[in-house]
Amino acid sequence: MSPFRLVLLPVFHLLTSIAGFTTAYRFDPLEHLGGVAPYFEPHDPPVSSAPPQGCTPVRAAYLSRHAAIYINDFDYEEYIQPFIAKWQNHTAIDWSKIPSLSFLARWTAPVSEAEEELLTRMGKLEATELAISLSFRYPGLKMPQRVWASSAERTVKSAQALIRGFELEENTIGLVVIEESKTTGANSLTPYKSCPAYSPSTGSKQSSVFLKRFAKPIVARLNALAPSFDFTADDVYGMMELCGYESVIRGSSPFCNLDLFSPDEWLAWEYTADIMYHYNTGYGSSVSGVIGLPWFKAAADLLMGSNDSTNAQDLYVSFTHRELTPTVLVAMGLFNNSEPGGAGCVNKTMPLDQINHRRAWKSSHIMPFMGNLAIERLACTGSYGFPDGDYYRALVNNAPQQLPGCRDGPGTSCSHSSFDAYLQDRVSMFSGFSDKCGVADDDAPEVLTIYTDPAVGNGTLVGKRSIWE
Ligand SMILES: *[C@@H]1O[C@H](CO)[C@@H](O)[C@H](O)[C@H]1NC(C)=O
Ligand SMILES: *[C@@H]1O[C@H](CO)[C@@H](O)[C@H](O)[C@H]1NC(C)=O
Ligand SMILES: *[C@@H]1O[C@H](CO)[C@@H](O)[C@H](O)[C@H]1NC(C)=O
Ligand SMILES: *[C@@H]1O[C@H](CO)[C@@H](O)[C@H](O)[C@H]1NC(C)=O
Ligand SMILES: *[C@@H]1O[C@H](CO)[C@@H](O)[C@H](O)[C@H]1NC(C)=O
Repeated sequence: MSPFRLVLLPVFHLLTSIAGFTTAYRFDPLEHLGGVAPYFEPHDPPVSSAPPQGCTPVRAAYLSRHAAIYINDFDYEEYIQPFIAKWQNHTAIDWSKIPSLSFLARWTAPVSEAEEELLTRMGKLEATELAISLSFRYPGLKMPQRVWASSAERTVKSAQALIRGFELEENTIGLVVIEESKTTGANSLTPYKSCPAYSPSTGSKQSSVFLKRFAKPIVARLNALAPSFDFTADDVYGMMELCGYESVIRGSSPFCNLDLFSPDEWLAWEYTADIMYHYNTGYGSSVSGVIGLPWFKAAADLLMGSNDSTNAQDLYVSFTHRELTPTVLVAMGLFNNSEPGGAGCVNKTMPLDQINHRRAWKSSHIMPFMGNLAIERLACTGSYGFPDGDYYRALVNNAPQQLPGCRDGPGTSCSHSSFDAYLQDRVSMFSGFSDKCGVADDDAPEVLTIYTDPAVGNGTLVGKRSIWE
């Protein structure tokens, strides 16, 4: 557990400290907040993250979402700002008389438009901490010479904070900034922006069906307490989001209180987000795998490449936004609700009238702030029952994942030849970026070359002050 979680969660620790013969029920809303969850490691599945017996990581590629931000522009404009404006308007309500909402008598808004999309202090700390955990995890690997980030401020600042965590001497690691553009085809860390078949609003129609359903009794309950406020489903959604945002800004939030929203209600909020991401960047969209494949292919090629290729690094880290990682997971076949071997329509695994608690697709487990995906090459000798050699495995937020059917190695890993065959299989499913995305420009890149193309350069060296800049 990272140190700042202790600061964030004293209330929940108190609530759950009474142990009896039965296991005390514990519930932490911050682990069910989809894309608004502070970084945590859900251990899903609860497999040990240590390398399998006899294996040592010799190379790794990481794709990370940026760390915690104050607020996302869509969330602010759609839910948070309207709720705050309404609350500021309703000065006649005596909140102090309503136990579950009494904090609203003294509350101040944690965020304004000016902070949209900016990294929080905690976000900078999270990214620095990632560097330190990677240095602990890979004591045998050379620290990177270059780190990559898409060009938004929050991804660049996350990368700078990570680099500061890696650097023992100033100005030793370069930050390569990759433009976020509509015209770079598959060759960027934001390929969804250059894929016309992708729409940022996809999934909101389906998720709003479930939102209305789960929020209905909450809206009725809150309106019984403060009728003149006229709470809506969107207010409820925004208040629950504020639990996450306010926590990463201030260290805690009264909106996380379980007397205000119950555990079942948080699970329903989470499912609403999961429906949205299922259709937006998950298995419910036919372009997800197409958007995610270029990164999977580039990373797999780097990992399988020879040890002496030009500019080869032991450790590759890249920062992007929440949209890319889930599409790469689809390209890799991970967190597929229909696996193993399920048949029928995958959309049926995400019903719009009840929660599928057994789903594999949980956005809180995939894309909290700084949520990350790693692929490792392991050198294994003396792994009983397996020949010596190179093996490959994937981890999501530090939990090893089984690639479906790629399982001829120790632990969740698979051999070089199986991994290569698996990659080719996925390439045949999802290649053809321009065609499947409907890119008009015939010359738009079909593959991701930012890690190997010398023209990309070595980036800008990052000095010490950059962490708090
Ligand atoms: C706030 O009150 C003013 C004046 O009654 C009204 O015009 C405005 O629409 C209200 N805004 C919100 C967000 O309720
Ligand atoms: C799932 O639903 C989406 C949106 O309606 C649709 O485009 C997609 O084809 C469906 N997937 C399957 C496998 O039927
Ligand atoms: C690269 O080096 C590792 C050990 O450092 C070795 O296990 C592996 O076989 C080498 N791979 C290639 C492709 O040369
Ligand atoms: C998801 O799993 C089902 C069942 O095994 C499989 O048919 C389907 O191809 C998988 N989807 C992807 C994108 O890998
Ligand atoms: C980047 O660094 C590598 C290794 O230090 C060096 O060989 C190469 O010339 C540099 N490229 C540029 C464009 O400076």
